[in-house]
Amino acid sequence: MSVPQLILTQPDDWHLHLRDGEILKHVAAFSARQFARAIIMPNLQPPVTTVVQAVEYLDRILAAVDGSDFEPLMTLYLTDNTTVAEIIAARKSCFIKALKFYPAGATTNASAGVTDIKHCHAVLETMQETGLPLLIHGEVSDHQVDIFDREKQFIDSVLQPLSKDFPELKIVFEHITTREAADFVLESSDTIAATITPQHLLLNRNALFAGGLQPHHYCLPVLKRETHRQRLLEMIRSGSPKFFAGTDSAPHPRHKKETACGCAGIFSAPVALEIYASIFEQQQILDKLEAFTSFNGADFYGLPRNTKTVTLIKQAWKIPAQYSLGSDTVIPFLAGSTLDWKLI
Ligand code: NCD
Ligand code: ZN
Repeated sequence: MSVPQLILTQPDDWHLHLRDGEILKHVAAFSARQFARAIIMPNLQPPVTTVVQAVEYLDRILAAVDGSDFEPLMTLYLTDNTTVAEIIAARKSCFIKALKFYPAGATTNASAGVTDIKHCHAVLETMQETGLPLLIHGEVSDHQVDIFDREKQFIDSVLQPLSKDFPELKIVFEHITTREAADFVLESSDTIAATITPQHLLLNRNALFAGGLQPHHYCLPVLKRETHRQRLLEMIRSGSPKFFAGTDSAPHPRHKKETACGCAGIFSAPVALEIYASIFEQQQILDKLEAFTSFNGADFYGLPRNTKTVTLIKQAWKIPAQYSLGSDTVIPFLAGSTLDWKLI
């Protein structure tokens, strides 16, 4: 009997952290292996805020994926001080595909983020006019607000007004985790879409505490209740083109995760596509996988769909316990467990 296989138009990752320096050199190949393109997050230290910094970062990424035809889609990190001139330069550059809005202090390396989106109105006006999308980490950073409510609060206090003020602005609500976010996107106009990560489709917040504190399941936005996960699954079952893959693969060295104050971020790049496939299979919607991984995002960004294909076969394989970062190691998502699908 032949092994079941899935042939997909090559997917894209619409939300990826590749880091820099030694880590970049070790992690980039995992994404280049499965994805044709990826939206590269700009939250380096210091953040990528200018076109000049972005082109330099692009060169370092291309050097790290030497020989592959992986295309990094660069982003700029929006700050209170981003200028209209920078937006115009970004638009002209061709390789910068979006601006990333981190509310100041919302997540890893977000201290330079936007303190109040009102400071950015002129810039948003230009983005709206020129069609440059805004990618949003949709959580308020007010530590008084319960961490499980920060996404909902952000929708009410920032995103609703923003989408009214800029009705033509293309917005990607990144890594949505809640029913409220799913419903907001579903009910909004075609200018608003969302990415969904493997971890938010697969796990609920119990996974953070199963058998003890699980630092490798800690990311931001944090995992939510099962009812929210079920709503995300309904979104992918609906086949709505507003939802697409964005892994949010965010590698941190093991010692920065397994420590008294561990940082947020799940390293899913080596397994993301296979996990999406398993989830879609489990939901009995394998026929909808390709649109989610390979069509919807490209269509939203106004980019051509990829023409090559990738093949996954139904073959159990064990996810390694760790991967090398040179002198450090990184623990992948679901380390040591077995996956049903394998990219060949
Ligand atoms: C990301 C990181 O480590 O850069 N962490 C995360 O938990 N997702 C930052 C982010 O996208 O929130
Ligand atoms: Zn991210």
